[in-house]
Amino acid sequence: MAVIYNDEKQIFHLQTKGTSYVMQVVRNKYLLHLYWGKRVQNYCGTRSIILKNRGFAPNPQENDRDFSLDTLPMEYPHGGNGDFRSCAFGIREQNGSRICDLSYVGYEIMKGKPKLEGLPCSFGSEEEVSTLKIHMKDKISGLSVFLLYGVFENADVITRSVVFENHGNSPLTLTKMLSMSVDFRESGFKVMTLYGAHNNERNVDLRPLKSGMVQIESLRGTSSPQQAPFMALLEANASEESGNIYSANFVYSGNFTALAQADAFENVRFQMGMNPWNGEWYLEPNEKFFTPETVMVFSSQGLNGMSQIYHNFYQHNLIRSKFAFQPRPILINNWEATFFDFNEDKLLALADKAAQTGIELFVLDDGWFGHRDNDDSSLGDWVTDKRKLPLGLSHLSDEIHNRGLKFGLWFEPEMISRNSELFRNHPEYALHTEGRPYTFGRGQLVLDLSNDEVCRYVIESVSKVLRETKIDYVKWDMNRHLTDVGSINFPMERQGEIFHRYVLGLYKILEELTTEFPDILFESCSSGGGRFDPGMLYYMPQTWCSDNTDAVCRMKIQYATSFTYPVVTMGAHVSEVPNQQTGRVTPLQTRGQVAMSANFGYEIDLTKLSSEELDEIKKQVAFYKDIRNTIQFGKFYRIKSPFDENVAQWNFVSGDGSQAVAFHFEILSQPAAPIKILKLKGLDADAVYRDISTGYEYGGDELMYSGISVPLEKKDFRSVCFRFVKVN
Ligand code: DGJ
Repeated sequence: MAVIYNDEKQIFHLQTKGTSYVMQVVRNKYLLHLYWGKRVQNYCGTRSIILKNRGFAPNPQENDRDFSLDTLPMEYPHGGNGDFRSCAFGIREQNGSRICDLSYVGYEIMKGKPKLEGLPCSFGSEEEVSTLKIHMKDKISGLSVFLLYGVFENADVITRSVVFENHGNSPLTLTKMLSMSVDFRESGFKVMTLYGAHNNERNVDLRPLKSGMVQIESLRGTSSPQQAPFMALLEANASEESGNIYSANFVYSGNFTALAQADAFENVRFQMGMNPWNGEWYLEPNEKFFTPETVMVFSSQGLNGMSQIYHNFYQHNLIRSKFAFQPRPILINNWEATFFDFNEDKLLALADKAAQTGIELFVLDDGWFGHRDNDDSSLGDWVTDKRKLPLGLSHLSDEIHNRGLKFGLWFEPEMISRNSELFRNHPEYALHTEGRPYTFGRGQLVLDLSNDEVCRYVIESVSKVLRETKIDYVKWDMNRHLTDVGSINFPMERQGEIFHRYVLGLYKILEELTTEFPDILFESCSSGGGRFDPGMLYYMPQTWCSDNTDAVCRMKIQYATSFTYPVVTMGAHVSEVPNQQTGRVTPLQTRGQVAMSANFGYEIDLTKLSSEELDEIKKQVAFYKDIRNTIQFGKFYRIKSPFDENVAQWNFVSGDGSQAVAFHFEILSQPAAPIKILKLKGLDADAVYRDISTGYEYGGDELMYSGISVPLEKKDFRSVCFRFVKVN
């Protein structure tokens, strides 16, 4: 039973394979949080609430000084009547009042999981997931708040989201609507977040939480490369392999906030949701508002345990594309090879070489449409540029297919260039605030996706190309963040909704396109991994991990991305040296082995490579095809972190356990070089494995506990790969 309700004590116990989550209704009104952590068989009441009269802690009842919302572990806290910590939601009534007072009304337990209107969210069969819906109500405003908990018993995940319904007689404004809030009566956590920038996505930040708040956010209109919509609280002794970790990842691609707040009594509040800055919602009577979903993962087996849960969950219960479990093609993308300067001959010469090496998919990147010779024109004009492709896109696609390759195409559908037919005809399609000047990013403007007519234009113009041309893959790019956010189509009281309406518009477009074109493999991109979030993964099963293709940087980016996202979702390409982003020269072998540790491809001018280099690429491609199933659909284990040392190590074990591939990367050659040992993970300790290149056999226990000595070599940026098959 995933949801257990004790009627006598009014206790809800959500239970998964490894986790318990417990709440209690007290005084028939307040919903308090009791416990989130390692599964307990039966929750009988060990964590009872201890009431204590504390200074400056206000009381709802005049003569009951021990009872204060400021010191109680609240399940979905609101402000205004005594809880001075960060509230989970806020309202503003017509008279300006911002006070709210929720009372428990009742609950419902359902098999399966309802969809969240207009939003991506995890899914599962009635056997996989149960939903608990708790109803709370503010009697004075008439606002009903439904807390939704999706309990995935075997996947070991609890999801949370909230539905607000205005059952009052007047409109009201939601001023904050977080999806998750958890009050721990514990402290001493370290807070883990992933921060970065364009070309430098997802670095690890680990901060002790002593007092006050650790908060991350995006106000950029997308989830952003600056902060990933992820936060984890690590108990003091937690590590990669052991210890308790409480984490959350937000299924949303817009502005978000995540925070951990320590109070004076060593309690910690952990919250995640839509960013309240410019994030209001005006709710008419009988209208509903759905918050996006938070995926909550508790692990008692450190970060590795946490990642295994996320990877499995996203593959099975979030990514809905039919490609989720299909081997992803090895691609060549022409971007770094040609930029905007190409014609059909040049592209076909590249395709010829790609076909010779065994590459499977040719992707035509930016510059094929409108009149686009650089990045300051034509976005929005999704019509083939006949100067570059006089015989048309379909002709090119046919030629590519004739060479035995699939054909993929780049779009940046959310954008509009001022120098475009679209802007000349429809300047009102650009996101802007009436009477104010435009703010540019990469020389372009953003389309107003809060406007349904604009969404229709995007759907029609993109699907026209997809219908007319044989296209197997789409790269969906998004290269700037939102400014001038406002829309003449909405009244004053709804201007705070435009950020969220933009995301809803985007989701609507993606819903329609991915439904009409289920056979197209979509890859999302935002100048690399700038919008790598579970919301996008719901529609598109892979994301271009970073524009930075330097092998050393990619070790870190891919390592940190793997904390939540499965390796198969990360696009990773071999590019030229010196690397265009860092100027670094790394061996082709290392570039290959870093990229083949994810969803593999090339972004390099193959026509300029020597025959030796092409031979090496041919071998890499053949090797990846051999190990593809293990890499893309096996289990991934981080062994050594490039954030901590001069090395990175990781290994993969195939789903059936019969294959293992391990990689060792050493960044700089060192004097008095220490000998490095590689200890594999996830093998069967009792089985015997054969090293494919040497034929030597070792026990799984030996490979994991004793480990392999990595041969020394005097070389910067080197990599070594070991491949094993299980013998018995
Ligand atoms: C940014 C992407 O990340 C690149 O791979 C490339 O597609 C460019 N945009 C094209 O403008």
